[in-house]
Parts: sequence; C-alpha cells; structure tokens
Amino acid sequence: MSDKAILEVGGKKYEFPILIGTEDEIAIDISTLRGSTNGIITLDAGFKNTGSCESKITFLDGEKGILRHRGYAIEELTKNASFLEVAFLIIFGELPTKVELEKFEIDIKGQSMVNEEMKGIIDGFPKSAHPMGILSALTSALTAFNPGIVNVNSKVDMYNAVVKILGKFPVLATWAHRRNNGLPLNYSDNSLDYISNIMQLMFKIPTEKYKINPIAVNALDELLILHEDHEQNCSTSTVRIVGSSGAGLFASLSAGVSALWGPLHGGANQAVVEMLEAIEKDGGDVEKYINKAKDKDDPFRLMGFGHRVYKNFDPRARIIKKAADELFADLNLNDPTLKIAKHLEEVALKDEYFAERKLYPNVDFYSGIIYRALGIPVQMFTVMFAIGRLPGWIAQWKEMRENGEPIGRPRQLYTGETLRPYKSIEDRK
Ligand code: CMC
Repeated sequence: MSDKAILEVGGKKYEFPILIGTEDEIAIDISTLRGSTNGIITLDAGFKNTGSCESKITFLDGEKGILRHRGYAIEELTKNASFLEVAFLIIFGELPTKVELEKFEIDIKGQSMVNEEMKGIIDGFPKSAHPMGILSALTSALTAFNPGIVNVNSKVDMYNAVVKILGKFPVLATWAHRRNNGLPLNYSDNSLDYISNIMQLMFKIPTEKYKINPIAVNALDELLILHEDHEQNCSTSTVRIVGSSGAGLFASLSAGVSALWGPLHGGANQAVVEMLEAIEKDGGDVEKYINKAKDKDDPFRLMGFGHRVYKNFDPRARIIKKAADELFADLNLNDPTLKIAKHLEEVALKDEYFAERKLYPNVDFYSGIIYRALGIPVQMFTVMFAIGRLPGWIAQWKEMRENGEPIGRPRQLYTGETLRPYKSIEDRK
C-alpha cells in the first residue's frame, strides 16, 4: 500500500501521510489539510471516522470483538488480576510487581479520607438529586480542597495525584447515595481491599457489623475491571479535551462523570434495568418492544444494544453474561428481569433489523442486572460505572499531558446567516 493518501479538490491534488498503528490500523494524517488547502476542513459529526490522538493504552477491534489493555486481553485480566492491578497497568503501562502493588494499595488507603467540609457541599443538594450530579460536583470540588497543580512530568507528583483520587473517589461516590437515603456518611475501612471497602462504604450501617460476601466482591471486582478503560469513548474524550485546555486532573475527571451520565453512554445500565422492569410490568411481551425499537416513528431504542465501535459481540458483554449466570446461581437468586433480558437478546439476535445493523448486546445489557443482584440501587448504577472507569480517565489524561497534545478545538462548517445589518428593536416583529 502507498504511504500517502491523495485528495483531489477543484482539480488540485494534495498528499497526506498514512500512519500505521502497531495493530495495523491505518490513519490518514490530515493535520496539514487546512493550511495546505487554504481553509478546507473535514466534517465528521460524532467523530465516527476521526482519530483524536495516538494512544498506547487500549486496543479495541470492534469488528472482531477484541479488547486489550497495554497488550493484555480483557478475558485474561478479568480472570487473573484485581481491579487495582489493572488500574496500575492502565495508568503506568506495566503490570505491577508484588512490591509495587502492595505499595499502591497502601498509598491509596492512605488517601481514603476526604475533607469533612465536603459534607457541606452535599447538604446543598436537594434529596432528589441524581448521585451522578453530586459526584461530578464533589469531584470538581476536590480541586478547591487540593489546589496544587499536578506536574505531569514529575513521577512523584503524578503518582500522588493518582493515589489521591483513587482513594477519595469511592468515598464521594457512596456519600452521594447515603445522603440521599438518609444514611450517615461512611468512612473507609483500611483493613479491607478496595472492592470490599466500596461495598462497606455503600451498605454498612452503624448499628450492625458488616459481613463481606466474597461472591459479591468477586462479581463487583470483575464488573469494575471490565469498565476500566475503553479508549476514546465519549467520557474519556471529554476528560482528554477538558485536560487539553490545561484544566487540572480533578476538574477534567468531573467533566468525565457528567459525560458518562447520559443514557446513550454510562447511563444505559440504569436505562436497561428500567426498560426490563417496564417490559415485565407490561406482561413480558418481548416481541412488542423489539418492534417498538425497529419502528422509526417510535423514539424507543433497545437499551443495552448497539455500540459505536463494536459491530460484533462486545467481549465485555460475553464475560458479564457469564458472571451474571454464576452470581445468580451462587446467591440462589431468581430475577425475572434476567429471564426477560435473555429472551430479549435471543429474539433480537435472530431479527434481521438487528443483524443488518450489527447491533449486539453491549456491556450495559447485563451489568445493571448484576448491580441489582448485589443490592445496589438503580440510581447508583452509573456511579458504579464511574468508579470502574476512573483508572481509564486518569490514564488517558496522563497520556494526553505527557504527549503534549495541543488544546482540543474542532472546526465547524458554518451554515447560519451571512452578514446582515443590525435591526433596531422597533423594526423587529
Ligand atoms: N435499538 C434500536 N435501533 C438501534 C439501536 C438500538 N439500541 N442502536 C442503533 N440502532 C439503529 C439506529 O436507529 C440506526 O438505524 P438506521 O441505520 O436505520 O438509521 C443504526 O442502528 C445505527 O445507529 P446509530 O445511532 O447511527 O449508531 P451510533 O454508533 O451512533 O450509536 C449507540 C451507538 C450505542 C449510541 C446506539 O447503538 C444506542 O443508542 N444504543 C442504546 C444505548 C446504549 O445501550 N448505550 C450504551 C453503549 S455501550 C457503553 C457505553 O458507551 O457507555
């Protein structure tokens, strides 16, 4: 293949270099396009064909259903590693040694207190506030309580910022839930591992001893590993773009939380369970909802189906489906929504509409069912996703800064009014 791409506009030819990634992905480098063509830009709504950066963190092949972090297959990572081990890998580039991992865990525990004044911010929210909104505000507020600038070129500075946010984020996330439910705000228990601590932060009440359920902890560990990074998705791109302006780590992460909140992104896990419950209440007629999803006059979409990048099975969905089956067997649970989910998946996968458009179950299709089985309330599903995605956001922010990427500032094709004279208020209708 030629190492140049040729673009012809108005009879004139322009050459652009072709870049090839380590997995043979091909990109046309159009960074000189506007300058060399005197103002021509590309237009790509939703960035469906646009690479925003070079990255060494995550490789994803949507056609083949492959997901790897730093070269390691997601299937191997979920089977063998812990959440913090994968976080270390994603953020720092290599799997930690035993000593590095132990230090990482201890350093994170050392940062698990948050300033008591943060409680005042939570109190300012109405009880009806969605925990994602509270989490976004609290994450941003961390900047005020930690005003120092993170020098990304200093390994110590960066490491300290990483352990600080990994230590405090689950506390803030679970405070959002506890406060809305009239429960006293909990503190970390540093005798526990990261995932068990999240469980006790959520569920422990002062009057009773909290018993850790290892089955639940394992399921949550696996689920959160699956969410750790997913290259340039909406919230991660948001974190990178906010950080590219020079905004600090906590402010950039707060923007990531807001981006994740939407139902087309992380909010889909909540939307899936609400959809399954609605189908159940409506008599369990799966075909009716499949037909609604196919009807172009109906805004309804099958939540948990389809993906911008995966045009094959989402590998995370395969692992989650198995985890859901195991968890329900281990806990001896019988959830009608799991049955509806399986039936829905079966019917959709056989349907021409979904096959033609390559719409498969995505990570969110089964994750909400697992969260619910663990006793996590629906409003907290996307918050759990945020806890899982945090290492990926940090890694991508760090890489963006280390690469010295320019400020993210897309162009546009202006289609509004051309110059017109100012109309005085008397002349306006
Ligand atoms: N139900 C019914 N039709 C769908 C669905 C769906 N869930 N998803 C896509 N389509 C149709 C869509 O109507 C379009 O049809 P046509 O070509 O006839 O106009 C075609 O499939 C392509 O869809 P698109 O909207 O152009 O695809 P996209 O890449 O812009 O959107 C998506 C990807 C994930 C936003 C979309 O599939 C969707 O809305 N899915 C439901 C929400 C969801 O589950 N989101 C979680 C995504 S995975 C986790 C995460 O990112 O956080």
